[in-house]
Amino acid sequence: MLLRQSDYIARAVIRDTAKYQRLIHRSYSTRATPFPSSTRRWHASRATHPTQPRWHQVAQTRGAKRKATLNLDDTPQGLVKSKALPDLDDDEPDYPPLLQQVRNNMLKFSHCVVLTRVGGFYELYFEHAEEFAPLLNLKKSKRKAVRGSKKPAVPMAGFPAYQLDRYLKILVQDLSKHVAISDEFLNDAPKRAKGEPQYNRRVSRIVTPGTLIDEHFMDPWENNYLLSIHVDPEALKKENAVKISPGSSSVSSVLNLPRTEVGLAWIDLSSGDFLTQSTDIASLPSVVARIKPREIVLDSIFEKEEHSRMVAILKEDGHIITFQDPSEQHLTVADWIPMLEDVVDDFDTEDFTTGEVAAGGSLLHYVKHQLLGSRTRLQAPIRHQTEDHMSIDKNSLRALEIRSTIRDGTYEGSLLHALKKTVTKSGTRLLTQRLSAPSLSLSTINDRLDLVEEMIEYPQLRQDVITLLGNTFDSVRLVTKFTVGRGDADDLMELSRTILTTGDIVNSLEEHSMLRNAMPVDAQNETTETRRRQCISSLRKRFELGSPLQLATRIHDAIDEEGLSEYHRREDDEAAEMEGLAQDVLGREAGEEDLKEMPKRIQPKPHMIAPSFKSATDGRDDVWIMKRTASPTLKRLHDTLDAMTENKVALEKELRQRLGAESLTLKWTPNLAHIAHVKGKDASRVTAHYPKSLSSSKSTRSFQIPEWTQLGAQLDETRFRIRTEEQRVLTDLREDVVQNLVKLRRNAAVLDELDVACAFGMLALEKNLVRPILNAGTSHNVVGGKHPVVEAGLSENGRKFAPNDCLLGDNERIWLITGPNMAGKSTYLRQNALISILAQTGSYVPAEYAEIGLVDKVFSRVGSADNLYQDQSTFMVEMLETAQILKEATPRSFVIMDEVGRGTTPEDGIAVGYACLHHLYHVNQCRTLFATHFHALTDMTKDFEKLGCYCNDVAEEPNGKFSYVHRLRKGVNRQSHALKVARVAGLPEDAIAIAAQVLQKLKPRVMPHGEGAGERPVLRRQATA
Ligand SMILES: Nc1ncnc2c1ncn2[C@@H]1O[C@H](COP(=O)(O)OP(=O)(O)O)[C@@H](O)[C@H]1O
Ligand SMILES: [Mg+2]
Repeated sequence: MLLRQSDYIARAVIRDTAKYQRLIHRSYSTRATPFPSSTRRWHASRATHPTQPRWHQVAQTRGAKRKATLNLDDTPQGLVKSKALPDLDDDEPDYPPLLQQVRNNMLKFSHCVVLTRVGGFYELYFEHAEEFAPLLNLKKSKRKAVRGSKKPAVPMAGFPAYQLDRYLKILVQDLSKHVAISDEFLNDAPKRAKGEPQYNRRVSRIVTPGTLIDEHFMDPWENNYLLSIHVDPEALKKENAVKISPGSSSVSSVLNLPRTEVGLAWIDLSSGDFLTQSTDIASLPSVVARIKPREIVLDSIFEKEEHSRMVAILKEDGHIITFQDPSEQHLTVADWIPMLEDVVDDFDTEDFTTGEVAAGGSLLHYVKHQLLGSRTRLQAPIRHQTEDHMSIDKNSLRALEIRSTIRDGTYEGSLLHALKKTVTKSGTRLLTQRLSAPSLSLSTINDRLDLVEEMIEYPQLRQDVITLLGNTFDSVRLVTKFTVGRGDADDLMELSRTILTTGDIVNSLEEHSMLRNAMPVDAQNETTETRRRQCISSLRKRFELGSPLQLATRIHDAIDEEGLSEYHRREDDEAAEMEGLAQDVLGREAGEEDLKEMPKRIQPKPHMIAPSFKSATDGRDDVWIMKRTASPTLKRLHDTLDAMTENKVALEKELRQRLGAESLTLKWTPNLAHIAHVKGKDASRVTAHYPKSLSSSKSTRSFQIPEWTQLGAQLDETRFRIRTEEQRVLTDLREDVVQNLVKLRRNAAVLDELDVACAFGMLALEKNLVRPILNAGTSHNVVGGKHPVVEAGLSENGRKFAPNDCLLGDNERIWLITGPNMAGKSTYLRQNALISILAQTGSYVPAEYAEIGLVDKVFSRVGSADNLYQDQSTFMVEMLETAQILKEATPRSFVIMDEVGRGTTPEDGIAVGYACLHHLYHVNQCRTLFATHFHALTDMTKDFEKLGCYCNDVAEEPNGKFSYVHRLRKGVNRQSHALKVARVAGLPEDAIAIAAQVLQKLKPRVMPHGEGAGERPVLRRQATA
């Protein structure tokens, strides 16, 4: 398998064909190109920049913030070394066909790492081998381009084909490379006769971080989004920016770009999700943070220096960007249709803005090229309506630790981690989506809450649904495999089980609805009660089970589960064998050519290289994955096979009798094919009848018997036909799945909703949460609120969390909070923002009572977000974030500001802090929680009628011990007790003593009202308390 004699011959034939040489040389020496027209533009530009790829990518880089010019070393393949180019004057052909094909592919897909299939291996050649073999931990070797050539040997490295996923993970996910997978296709006889090589190696797919389909290393709990952003480059021109925006253009902030509309489109190829959104440039970073794409596609126009800020802003957040030449023709919504699933009536083409259409167009253009023609069937596009969702700005997403913690970015310790009671992968993805973009629609939120309440009140229903969901598989991702022709028998089984389980879930829901309808309605809360009764039945109605159930039955009737698991057992054995072999093989220095010279010992056995299942003709113990009743043909073939097997037994018996050889068996061996085998004395006995021996030893003899040879051939033929028929049935079933695509995806979506509802139900019961009441007002009334994550952390250590109220609204819009360090100010701020987010996600909340006016945007300015690596000082970051809040917050927003102004002198800090309060109070007029150590602010805002001052305290005991009073009270606490924290933290005692002295001297200056240490804090505005 590894040795391709025919390849050698083909190479010999080709070696001197002038035609071939011309073809190769042309691709280097002139602009004319042997490649399809779609890449022509790229070639034109390559003439000036020899390594400029058509697509190229900027991975997460720190520092280079204002430069969009692409460093060639940063391109995925690095600088293509010129010494690798062939020497034009030389008579010797440059490379043999295999290497030439590789070279061509590397040129054509110069933005990619090219993996080339050679027999049972994927190989890297030339500079790719040099660069990536060490990164992939592969052994690098060299091979002579042409035997006996004077040219330098070509570097190469490879790995067994079945390990493709493992290496793709490193290249694509860890190193953010684009990988072109070049497979081998057998050239047909006429072509080969014309001197073409036996195998043609063609790139069949390009894998990039954003275009994963079913790779095993994909994160099952998260969507794998590819995002395209469309901005009108004209609108971003410098002149416009400076005129309209007051900020300096030297600071990359969206605020310093002119207000422009931005069109977004994003897809998840693994689930078929397709979404669009129209937004404003100022919100772009937050929207992108919410979507959390794995890869962003931008027009190559943005590579130009003048648009570098746009790129810098995206790069700052660590996004991976791929630049793409814009499509030549103007794309419309109609261009989306070929990429969509069959039902496209679901979306109204009018709904989409020009920006969204352009973004969608470029996205699909990109996908088409990465998948190189294989068809995708995305779901009908859904518009993410900004006005239907709460927007959580990028800093809040971080500061509130919604999906990961600030400190180390881990999932553990995040809000999502605390909420995740979902039992399915796709349910978890829905939970993440909802949490990142909570709803702004009262009816949607109430529907979700109704469902949760129903799940809480009816434990049997909840338990049944949770158990059943546990038996389902990730059907959205499963069906996608089928749309790209990849689903196998196992996927079919999983799908069928999911459909059957969905049937059981529907039955449970129906039973529940009947039970509920039989109960009398409580007259007291009739309206809510009737609404809640409907929630389960309306969910049930969304399931479409008719034809999916038929499909499930068909799959169930066709696939032989036992056969399938036997098949896998063998596959595993083979894989284990391969694993051991791989070691040897990777040591086979130089691939095909030099293999012959290798010592016998480490030469791999050819038949073991092919990882595929043993072909029909050499499989002795048949393993069938289909039941024989799966199709009439299959039934007929199996009957024939049975009859033949009986004939074989009969023949064997007859031969034993006739030849008087009891030990005779009819066998098949890889070397001798169909043979009769005898042992001991029988060996001499049969010689008279069959004098010709195929092999013999002292005590055995093998020989041919024409009847057996003939019957054996028929057996093989039948087996082969069974195998083919099984494949045909499989293909039929696959098509059936694709036919049911829309229904299966819809059902999966309803299952996800059920999963989230059950999860929230469980959570509410475990944590004793309360159903929030939402309204269209602008108040935030939370009694006994808690921080869901901090509380959990404390209770693990046996400590109690002190609940706190928060009453923002018509009376007091801003709460100004003072108090000692470590008393819980930051926790309090965050918990209230989180309660709003949870409520609008459709979850119960950690409080005794919560009545909340819908929040349109949540903003946070929380310390410790130093971006020093981005060349922004602590104070600059603080001001950028503050600017965003003051410019964007509306009267419906919820703002938390934690210690604004601490990155500068106290005077400057107080000034900035006051300005923020003033702006938030008079201009933004939003609900605000503002924590500070600048006690002067409480005095300066005395005339802000709707601003309340609250604080927490330190309780000191006579013996010098102290504890924090986490409960908030009305008033101001002018002591930060910082030295107490310092002492607890272990500052040397003499340092503490010095600090205490200094503090004594400073106090009067910092505290204009002269309260000294140890005095009771003055309660301000007692009249209103
Ligand atoms: N309401 C509370 N009840 C109990 N412990 C709390 C509470 N709030 C905060 N804590 C504890 O106090 C620690 C410090 O809280 P933090 O909010 O950072 O204080 P501050 O911002 O006032 O310095 C938290 O890590 C938590 O362990
Ligand atoms: Mg704090």
